[in-house]
Amino acid sequence: MKYLVFDSKKEASKEAYKILKSLINENSTLGLATGGSPIALYEEMISDYKAGNFSYKNVKSYNLDEYVGISYDHPESYHKFMEINLFNHIDIEKANTHVPDAGNSDLSAALKAYQEQLNNAEIDVQILGVGSNGHIGFNEPGTPFEKGVHVVDLKQETIEANSRFFNNDINLVPKQAVTMGIKDIMRAKHIILLAFGEAKQHAIKRLVEGDEITENIPCTVLKNHPSVYVLVDKEADFK
Ligand code: GLP
Repeated sequence: MKYLVFDSKKEASKEAYKILKSLINENSTLGLATGGSPIALYEEMISDYKAGNFSYKNVKSYNLDEYVGISYDHPESYHKFMEINLFNHIDIEKANTHVPDAGNSDLSAALKAYQEQLNNAEIDVQILGVGSNGHIGFNEPGTPFEKGVHVVDLKQETIEANSRFFNNDINLVPKQAVTMGIKDIMRAKHIILLAFGEAKQHAIKRLVEGDEITENIPCTVLKNHPSVYVLVDKEADFK
Protein backbone atom coordinates (compact mmCIF):
# COMPACT_ATOMS: atom_id res chain seq x y z
CA MET A 1 0.00 0.00 0.00
CA LYS A 2 1.25 3.46 -0.86
CA TYR A 3 0.19 6.13 1.63
CA LEU A 4 0.57 9.72 0.44
CA VAL A 5 -0.27 12.87 2.42
CA PHE A 6 -0.85 16.27 0.79
CA ASP A 7 -1.43 19.82 1.98
CA SER A 8 -4.76 20.01 0.21
CA LYS A 9 -7.48 18.02 -1.52
CA LYS A 10 -6.54 19.71 -4.80
CA GLU A 11 -2.93 18.54 -4.63
CA ALA A 12 -3.93 15.02 -3.60
CA SER A 13 -6.41 14.86 -6.47
CA LYS A 14 -3.84 16.07 -9.01
CA GLU A 15 -1.49 13.31 -7.89
CA ALA A 16 -4.36 10.79 -7.90
CA TYR A 17 -5.00 11.70 -11.53
CA LYS A 18 -1.32 11.21 -12.40
CA ILE A 19 -1.42 7.77 -10.78
CA LEU A 20 -4.70 6.91 -12.50
CA LYS A 21 -3.32 7.92 -15.89
CA SER A 22 -0.23 5.78 -15.36
CA LEU A 23 -2.46 2.74 -14.72
CA ILE A 24 -4.99 3.02 -17.54
CA ASN A 25 -5.27 3.46 -21.28
CA GLU A 26 -8.12 4.56 -23.53
CA ASN A 27 -9.63 1.04 -23.52
CA SER A 28 -9.65 0.57 -19.76
CA THR A 29 -12.48 -0.18 -17.38
CA LEU A 30 -12.90 2.12 -14.40
CA GLY A 31 -14.65 1.55 -11.09
CA LEU A 32 -16.14 4.87 -10.05
CA ALA A 33 -17.25 6.35 -6.75
CA THR A 34 -19.55 9.15 -5.65
CA GLY A 35 -19.55 11.47 -2.64
CA GLY A 36 -17.34 14.49 -2.03
CA SER A 37 -14.00 12.68 -2.15
CA PRO A 38 -13.61 11.97 -5.90
CA ILE A 39 -14.99 15.28 -7.20
CA ALA A 40 -11.63 17.07 -7.55
CA LEU A 41 -10.19 13.98 -9.27
CA TYR A 42 -13.10 14.05 -11.71
CA GLU A 43 -12.30 17.73 -12.36
CA GLU A 44 -8.74 16.72 -13.27
CA MET A 45 -10.07 14.03 -15.62
CA ILE A 46 -12.39 16.54 -17.27
CA SER A 47 -9.76 19.22 -17.76
CA ASP A 48 -7.26 16.76 -19.23
CA TYR A 49 -9.98 15.46 -21.57
CA LYS A 50 -10.86 19.02 -22.59
CA ALA A 51 -7.18 19.69 -23.27
CA GLY A 52 -7.35 16.83 -25.78
CA ASN A 53 -5.00 14.55 -23.86
CA PHE A 54 -7.31 11.61 -23.17
CA SER A 55 -10.43 10.10 -24.72
CA TYR A 56 -13.06 8.03 -22.90
CA LYS A 57 -14.76 6.86 -26.13
CA ASN A 58 -13.81 3.23 -25.46
CA VAL A 59 -13.63 3.39 -21.67
CA LYS A 60 -16.17 1.45 -19.62
CA SER A 61 -17.22 2.30 -16.10
CA TYR A 62 -18.96 0.59 -13.20
CA ASN A 63 -20.15 2.54 -10.18
CA LEU A 64 -19.96 1.28 -6.64
CA ASP A 65 -23.44 2.04 -5.41
CA GLU A 66 -26.81 3.78 -5.69
CA TYR A 67 -29.50 4.79 -3.22
CA VAL A 68 -32.77 2.88 -3.06
CA GLY A 69 -35.91 5.01 -3.00
CA ILE A 70 -34.98 8.16 -4.93
CA SER A 71 -35.47 8.66 -8.64
CA TYR A 72 -32.46 8.85 -10.96
CA ASP A 73 -33.48 12.45 -11.72
CA HIS A 74 -32.99 13.41 -8.08
CA PRO A 75 -29.87 15.62 -7.95
CA GLU A 76 -28.39 13.41 -5.22
CA SER A 77 -28.99 10.08 -6.93
CA TYR A 78 -25.68 8.59 -7.94
CA HIS A 79 -26.91 8.28 -11.54
CA LYS A 80 -27.38 12.07 -11.57
CA PHE A 81 -24.18 12.71 -9.59
CA MET A 82 -22.13 10.90 -12.22
CA GLU A 83 -23.75 12.85 -15.06
CA ILE A 84 -23.24 16.19 -13.32
CA ASN A 85 -19.72 15.59 -12.06
CA LEU A 86 -18.20 13.52 -14.85
CA PHE A 87 -20.14 11.85 -17.65
CA ASN A 88 -21.66 15.04 -19.14
CA HIS A 89 -18.20 16.57 -19.51
CA ILE A 90 -16.25 13.76 -21.19
CA ASP A 91 -16.78 11.64 -24.30
CA ILE A 92 -17.70 8.40 -22.50
CA GLU A 93 -20.55 6.51 -24.20
CA LYS A 94 -23.63 6.35 -21.99
CA ALA A 95 -24.01 2.65 -22.93
CA ASN A 96 -20.55 1.96 -21.48
CA THR A 97 -21.41 3.42 -18.06
CA HIS A 98 -23.02 1.25 -15.40
CA VAL A 99 -24.60 2.34 -12.13
CA PRO A 100 -26.58 -0.15 -10.00
CA ASP A 101 -30.25 -0.13 -11.04
CA ALA A 102 -31.51 0.43 -7.51
CA GLY A 103 -34.76 1.93 -8.78
CA ASN A 104 -35.80 -1.29 -10.49
CA SER A 105 -39.13 -2.59 -9.17
CA ASP A 106 -37.60 -6.08 -9.31
CA LEU A 107 -34.63 -5.32 -7.09
CA SER A 108 -33.42 -8.89 -6.76
CA ALA A 109 -33.26 -9.22 -10.57
CA ALA A 110 -31.36 -5.91 -10.70
CA LEU A 111 -28.84 -7.14 -8.11
CA LYS A 112 -28.33 -10.33 -10.06
CA ALA A 113 -27.89 -8.45 -13.33
CA TYR A 114 -25.29 -6.09 -11.83
CA GLN A 115 -23.43 -9.01 -10.28
CA GLU A 116 -23.29 -10.70 -13.68
CA GLN A 117 -22.04 -7.52 -15.34
CA LEU A 118 -19.33 -7.16 -12.71
CA ASN A 119 -18.34 -10.81 -12.96
CA ASN A 120 -17.83 -10.32 -16.69
CA ALA A 121 -15.89 -7.09 -16.26
CA GLU A 122 -12.28 -6.53 -15.32
CA ILE A 123 -11.93 -3.27 -13.48
CA ASP A 124 -8.48 -1.81 -14.04
CA VAL A 125 -8.67 0.91 -11.41
CA GLN A 126 -11.30 1.28 -8.70
CA ILE A 127 -11.68 4.79 -7.27
CA LEU A 128 -12.81 4.75 -3.63
CA GLY A 129 -13.76 7.16 -0.91
CA VAL A 130 -14.21 5.95 2.64
CA GLY A 131 -16.94 6.57 5.20
CA SER A 132 -16.00 7.92 8.61
CA ASN A 133 -16.95 4.46 9.95
CA GLY A 134 -14.64 2.83 7.42
CA HIS A 135 -17.29 1.81 4.89
CA ILE A 136 -16.24 1.41 1.26
CA GLY A 137 -18.93 1.65 -1.37
CA PHE A 138 -21.88 1.22 0.97
CA ASN A 139 -20.41 -1.84 2.68
CA GLU A 140 -21.16 -0.87 6.24
CA PRO A 141 -19.29 -2.24 9.28
CA GLY A 142 -20.12 -5.91 9.82
CA THR A 143 -20.60 -6.72 6.13
CA PRO A 144 -19.03 -10.11 5.35
CA PHE A 145 -16.08 -9.68 3.01
CA GLU A 146 -17.41 -12.49 0.75
CA LYS A 147 -20.67 -10.70 -0.03
CA GLY A 148 -21.28 -9.59 -3.63
CA VAL A 149 -23.78 -6.99 -4.87
CA HIS A 150 -26.45 -6.49 -2.21
CA VAL A 151 -28.98 -4.16 -0.59
CA VAL A 152 -27.76 -2.37 2.53
CA ASP A 153 -29.58 -0.76 5.42
CA LEU A 154 -27.50 2.38 5.92
CA LYS A 155 -26.07 2.97 9.39
CA GLN A 156 -27.29 5.98 11.32
CA GLU A 157 -23.83 7.60 11.11
CA THR A 158 -23.85 7.24 7.32
CA ILE A 159 -27.33 8.75 7.08
CA GLU A 160 -26.14 11.65 9.25
CA ALA A 161 -22.91 12.12 7.28
CA ASN A 162 -24.77 12.12 3.96
CA SER A 163 -27.51 14.48 5.18
CA ARG A 164 -25.19 17.31 4.11
CA PHE A 165 -26.22 16.48 0.56
CA PHE A 166 -29.93 16.53 1.53
CA ASN A 167 -30.38 20.00 3.09
CA ASN A 168 -29.00 18.60 6.36
CA ASP A 169 -32.32 16.83 6.86
CA ILE A 170 -31.81 13.18 7.81
CA ASN A 171 -35.44 12.47 6.92
CA LEU A 172 -34.63 13.17 3.28
CA VAL A 173 -31.68 10.76 3.16
CA PRO A 174 -32.53 7.33 1.70
CA LYS A 175 -32.23 4.56 4.28
CA GLN A 176 -31.11 1.84 1.87
CA ALA A 177 -28.72 1.45 -1.02
CA VAL A 178 -27.45 -1.12 -3.48
CA THR A 179 -23.71 -1.61 -3.37
CA MET A 180 -20.99 -3.68 -4.96
CA GLY A 181 -19.67 -6.08 -2.36
CA ILE A 182 -16.19 -6.03 -0.85
CA LYS A 183 -15.49 -9.14 -2.92
CA ASP A 184 -16.26 -7.18 -6.10
CA ILE A 185 -14.13 -4.21 -5.03
CA MET A 186 -11.19 -6.49 -4.26
CA ARG A 187 -11.23 -7.89 -7.83
CA ALA A 188 -10.05 -4.54 -9.25
CA LYS A 189 -6.44 -4.61 -10.44
CA HIS A 190 -5.59 -1.32 -8.73
CA ILE A 191 -7.36 0.79 -6.12
CA ILE A 192 -7.05 4.53 -5.51
CA LEU A 193 -8.65 5.65 -2.24
CA LEU A 194 -9.14 9.34 -1.46
CA ALA A 195 -9.96 10.75 1.97
CA PHE A 196 -10.18 14.37 3.07
CA GLY A 197 -10.96 16.05 6.37
CA GLU A 198 -10.64 15.19 10.01
CA ALA A 199 -13.73 12.97 10.05
CA LYS A 200 -11.77 10.39 8.04
CA GLN A 201 -8.76 10.28 10.38
CA HIS A 202 -9.93 7.29 12.38
CA ALA A 203 -10.75 5.14 9.34
CA ILE A 204 -7.44 6.10 7.71
CA LYS A 205 -5.51 5.19 10.84
CA ARG A 206 -7.11 1.76 10.93
CA LEU A 207 -6.46 1.31 7.23
CA VAL A 208 -2.83 2.36 7.21
CA GLU A 209 -1.52 1.35 10.62
CA GLY A 210 -0.90 -2.16 11.87
CA ASP A 211 -2.03 -5.50 10.48
CA GLU A 212 -5.58 -5.70 11.75
CA ILE A 213 -8.16 -6.64 9.13
CA THR A 214 -11.70 -6.61 10.46
CA GLU A 215 -15.21 -6.58 9.03
CA ASN A 216 -16.00 -3.96 11.67
CA ILE A 217 -13.85 -1.46 9.71
CA PRO A 218 -14.48 -2.53 6.11
CA CYS A 219 -11.64 -0.50 4.55
CA THR A 220 -9.07 -2.61 6.46
CA VAL A 221 -9.69 -5.39 3.91
CA LEU A 222 -7.60 -3.33 1.47
CA LYS A 223 -4.50 -4.49 3.38
CA ASN A 224 -5.03 -7.75 1.49
CA HIS A 225 -5.01 -6.06 -1.93
CA PRO A 226 -1.74 -6.03 -3.90
CA SER A 227 -2.02 -2.52 -5.40
CA VAL A 228 -3.61 0.22 -3.30
CA TYR A 229 -2.86 3.95 -3.30
CA VAL A 230 -4.24 5.96 -0.38
CA LEU A 231 -4.13 9.74 -0.87
CA VAL A 232 -5.22 12.03 1.94
CA ASP A 233 -5.01 15.67 2.94
CA LYS A 234 -3.25 16.58 6.16
CA GLU A 235 -6.52 16.77 8.09
CA ALA A 236 -7.27 13.12 7.35
CA ASP A 237 -3.71 12.09 8.17
CA PHE A 238 -3.55 10.47 11.60
CA LYS A 239 0.00 11.30 12.66
C1 GLP B 1 -20.75 7.60 0.78
C2 GLP B 1 -20.56 6.68 -0.44
C3 GLP B 1 -19.19 6.11 -0.46
C4 GLP B 1 -18.25 7.24 -0.15
C5 GLP B 1 -18.35 7.61 1.30
C6 GLP B 1 -17.63 8.87 1.67
O1 GLP B 1 -21.81 7.29 1.55
N1 GLP B 1 -21.49 5.64 -0.62
O2 GLP B 1 -18.92 5.49 -1.71
O3 GLP B 1 -16.92 6.85 -0.41
O4 GLP B 1 -19.69 7.60 1.71
O5 GLP B 1 -18.30 9.98 1.18
P1 GLP B 1 -17.63 11.39 1.00
O6 GLP B 1 -16.61 11.21 -0.09
O7 GLP B 1 -18.74 12.29 0.56
O8 GLP B 1 -17.03 11.77 2.28
